[in-house]
Amino acid sequence: MNTLMSVRGLRKHFGDADVIKGVDLDIHEGEVVVVIGPSGSGKSTLIRCLNNLEPATAGDIVLSGSNGGRDSLARLRDEVGMVFQDYTLFPHLSILRNMTLAPMKLRGLARAEAEAQAMKLLERVGLAHKAHAYPAELSGGQQQRVAIVRALAMQPRLMLFDEPTSALDPETVNEVLQVMKELAAEGTTMVVVTHEMGFAREVADRVIFFDGGRIVECAPPAQLFSAPCEERTRQFLTHVLK
Ligand SMILES: Nc1ncnc2c1ncn2[C@@H]1O[C@H](COP(=O)(O)OP(=O)(O)OP(=O)(O)O)[C@@H](O)[C@H]1O
Ligand SMILES: [Mg+2]
Repeated sequence: MNTLMSVRGLRKHFGDADVIKGVDLDIHEGEVVVVIGPSGSGKSTLIRCLNNLEPATAGDIVLSGSNGGRDSLARLRDEVGMVFQDYTLFPHLSILRNMTLAPMKLRGLARAEAEAQAMKLLERVGLAHKAHAYPAELSGGQQQRVAIVRALAMQPRLMLFDEPTSALDPETVNEVLQVMKELAAEGTTMVVVTHEMGFAREVADRVIFFDGGRIVECAPPAQLFSAPCEERTRQFLTHVLK
């Protein structure tokens, strides 16, 4: 398996707060890595560092095909897509404009080309008929599906998801998880922070239990959920699986 991203000695401080305390991780091409862990353990900070949205205090994050130098950090923003809990669509732009903005500005696509690509992506998540609507006219689940394909429009090599379903009504959670399952099945490389243990079991190649700014344990879901090696993982799982 080829390594797509290699993380070594990653640390992040906010002032005195030591939030990420040394993370080493290889993400392989086509792999789905799910990150679970208690609130405040640093999961969001960790994945925000992976696309350089949050500059790391120390350590290296290298995407395959780059040399680890300074512009390889710039490449992280460009080549790693991210979907947040609260969808973050631009409220004053139509769905279509939300979709075409970055590909036109940052990828230099002509409008017609960007719109054709956007319509294809919207069709894929059953939302082509909403192209001319505004975000506020869509349900949370619909907005989140747009946020996912908006990130895909930049053709990222890695997709990061930070609790993409936790702001949604229970009935709409599945429509978003379904899109993510399809992406995984197509071979999209993904790192997903989630509390959806069913998704983790079904889709993850590896599950990371993250606590106190560190990877406590990392294993395939069958192993991590039924026979965790660490007592802390066991405690967390008894808490969330009951
Ligand atoms: N910009 C910031 N400035 C200062 N402290 C921060 C900042 N962002 C996060 N922190 C702190 O870092 C710690 C980890 O936060 P983070 O959001 O990464 O946790 P999390 O595991 O994602 O939690 P949750 O499950 O609640 O989303 C927390 O103590 C938080 O207060
Ligand atoms: Mg978080």
